[in-house]
Amino acid sequence: MQGRLTPVIAAALTMGLSLGAAFADPVEDELVVTAEDGEITLVTTTKAPGHLAETFDTIWSGWHFREDDTRDLQRDDFDNPGMLFADRGLDRWNAKSEASGASCAGCHEGPESMKGLRAVLPRVDAKTGKLMILEDYINDCVTTRMGEEAWGMTSGKMKDMLGLISLQSRGEPVNVAIDGPAAEFWAKGREMYYTRYGQLEMACANCHEQNAGMMIRADHLSQGQVNGFPTYRLKDAGMVTAQQRFVGCIRDTRAETFKAGSDELKALELYVASRGNGLSVEGISVRH
Ligand code: HEC
Ligand code: HEC
Repeated sequence: MQGRLTPVIAAALTMGLSLGAAFADPVEDELVVTAEDGEITLVTTTKAPGHLAETFDTIWSGWHFREDDTRDLQRDDFDNPGMLFADRGLDRWNAKSEASGASCAGCHEGPESMKGLRAVLPRVDAKTGKLMILEDYINDCVTTRMGEEAWGMTSGKMKDMLGLISLQSRGEPVNVAIDGPAAEFWAKGREMYYTRYGQLEMACANCHEQNAGMMIRADHLSQGQVNGFPTYRLKDAGMVTAQQRFVGCIRDTRAETFKAGSDELKALELYVASRGNGLSVEGISVRH
């Protein structure tokens, strides 16, 4: 990482984005989580995946860029406020649908049956040929197998279920496919990552690649990884999905934004996830 603002960011300064010129390395620390059934050591930094080798030597979870007290909240499930959402997700998992009497548990047994899934999503579904995010799989069952209306992409019940299902893959290395049928979606996501949006004319890469490590509005800029999602965000006192975070970051460039669950943001999620191949799925992380 570097220690100087790039010209794009320096120009954004004059347009009202408040940036400090300070650079700080990600904090050296290890994330061992105390869970109900024991301790899990998460990989929060590792060698960059091959497709990023020219860009970064090392990739870092956003966890390393947060303050001590925020990092501490993720060390123990008892302290992680996101676990309450997963608990609610479990109640919903077991509950019978009013529309059909079916329940997730009735067909899938326990939520452990979803182990490993979060680590490989988004992926191109073999049956539909579509790029699917976890929200799509959930809604597929909700509508076609339970006879309910689709759940909103960022609705409370969707986030509870995302939390519960993601948690089953905690500790597994992110491993999304970027070749074969995924290649075209990945290329589209990659293009978006380097496209400048909004009045500020800023791309994801301007902040999360070229200026990772810099301070922006008292925030320590991370590499913008999604291995921690969904995340419990202290500022919102609630859960935030990767799709929502993208909407927020694009809005910060003062652009008209794409919608959560749009084809564009799904492709972007695949690309961003691939930049974190090798980091652990954090299940439900805690950010500020
Ligand atoms: C009537 C039975 C049924 C119900 C009820 C049901 N599912 Fe499914 N679900 C399936 C089947 C069948 C598949 C497809 C499995 C496959 O293609 O291998 C599936 C696939 C999935 C997948 C993708 C899994 C994977 O590994 O690809 C997810 C996630 C999922 N369901 C979540 C849920 C959730 C959450 C609920 C409750 C809100 C639910 N399902 C309710 C039968 C059901
Ligand atoms: C103007 C700078 C800026 C731009 C442009 C920007 N972001 Fe962000 N982003 C931030 C800040 C600030 C944060 C909060 C601190 C951090 O984790 O970097 C953040 C956080 C994130 C996070 C959460 C990381 C974590 O571990 O909690 C993700 C994911 C993310 N951004 C993705 C993106 C994507 C994808 C784009 C392009 C569509 C983008 N960002 C564009 C400033 C930006």
